[in-house]
Amino acid sequence: MPIFYGKAPLMDYLKSIKDSQKTIGFVPTMGALHEGHLALMKKSLQENDTTVVSIFVNPTQFNNPEDLEKYPRTLEEDIKKLTNLDDSIILYAPTVEDIYDGKPTSQSFDFDGLENQMEGKFRPGHFNGVGTIVKRLFEIVTPNNAYFGEKDFQQLQIVKKMVSKNKLQVKVVGCPIHREANNLAMSSRNERLTPQEREQASLIYKILRTAKEKFSKDSTLTISKWVQKAFENNTQFTLEYFTIADEATLLTCTRKNKTKKYRAFIAVIVNNIRLIDTISLN
Ligand code: PAF
Repeated sequence: MPIFYGKAPLMDYLKSIKDSQKTIGFVPTMGALHEGHLALMKKSLQENDTTVVSIFVNPTQFNNPEDLEKYPRTLEEDIKKLTNLDDSIILYAPTVEDIYDGKPTSQSFDFDGLENQMEGKFRPGHFNGVGTIVKRLFEIVTPNNAYFGEKDFQQLQIVKKMVSKNKLQVKVVGCPIHREANNLAMSSRNERLTPQEREQASLIYKILRTAKEKFSKDSTLTISKWVQKAFENNTQFTLEYFTIADEATLLTCTRKNKTKKYRAFIAVIVNNIRLIDTISLN
């Protein structure tokens, strides 16, 4: 499997692929690869002549230094998983220096307010960091198609906005959430949970499923109060937010409108580890 640690040789290599009119699919990741990532890669392999995967734990999108420090880094195992999947995949695993040429800093973006909701409220600067790295990676890889998981639905909408505002020639493809056997959304952060916490975290999806059932008959306020109550007596899981929002604007829904599509979004903290999940409601 071709592996590049620096952008210059990668760009050189990709130039000949572009010159021969071949399409490039791209899956950006922060590593600690799981089935959810592999599903994005399988889709990219099906839909493109060449697939590039990046593994880079991007420091500028972490607002919490402990979260950055403890983020799982498993490059060797990741390389094995990629090779097993398809050894034609091109891996880009840059250093911080290769991406940021000096001190890592974020560009400041205007995502038309998408950045101010949910994750944006609780993780200041996070989406400037995401916008900075994704734009940078798109410039280096120049993909035709790029694949992102819907677990980070706000990130997906923000990347689409960044692409349309900057008129980038890349199609952003959102892919369904992959879940563990107990329905916990797959995430690299799950690795940091104890087996017991991991099992108990099935509660998050149970809450989302029930919220979905309630959505056709109850008001969004009633549902939100019910969710808060469900977490009140739970000493292990702290609810950071639960929101029902318009899929397109990500603005909180106070009155349902039949013409709009809504989603529930949730962030929960367990043992200092943040877990997020989302479900489509209609
Ligand atoms: O979703 C992620 O893993 C990251 O936010 C991304 C898109 C790879 C940017 O660092």
